Amino acid sequence: MEQQEIALGPATPEDFRAAFRRHPAGVVVVTADAGAGPAGLTATSLVSVSLDPPMVSLAIAESASAWPALSRAGSFVVNLLGQDHPELAQHFATRGIDRFAPPTRWVRLTTGEPALLDAASWLRCATDERVRVGDHWLVLGRVTAARVDPEAAPLVYHDRRYHGLGEHTALEV
Ligand SMILES: Cc1cc2nc3c(=O)[nH]c(=O)nc-3n(C[C@H](O)[C@H](O)[C@H](O)COP(=O)(O)O)c2cc1C
Repeated sequence: MEQQEIALGPATPEDFRAAFRRHPAGVVVVTADAGAGPAGLTATSLVSVSLDPPMVSLAIAESASAWPALSRAGSFVVNLLGQDHPELAQHFATRGIDRFAPPTRWVRLTTGEPALLDAASWLRCATDERVRVGDHWLVLGRVTAARVDPEAAPLVYHDRRYHGLGEHTALEV
């Protein structure tokens, strides 16, 4: 049988954005304190990179208001959000507000990092490397501590809206 070929068009910025609008992702809030007070932002760029040792990566915009803190902090917390807290995701993506003022419920880990009380799970990470990639920084973190709610239904971002996932959305294969 003859191998079929298909031609792709040039990749426009619109294509890039459209592709990722249709690529759902779990929502986290990254929190850290480099000594000037708590900082944090909503992110969907979390990737599980390595199991041994456990490593994650996040892509953080150099222009993000939380970047100065994250660029200096030796550790950070990945707060994995559940589907019952879309407002937290919205709050930590809102510009020009004090994201840690009430109604945000946050605590400090015994190791000093700020963490969100209403997150479903937490990963405490020691910053390993920061690599500049285009207009973002890829931050690699080694997961040194965790508290995970295995029952929590995740918060998912898809096509500019928040969604929940559960048994009703599971497909049989
Ligand atoms: C669902 C969602 C996912 C986001 N993911 C990222 C991300 O992975 N990396 C990033 O740098 N910004 C991400 N952002 C944007 C940050 O939250 C951003 O800092 C914020 O919207 C703007 O606030 P700032 O101007 O104070 O930085 C995301 C926003 C939303 C709503």
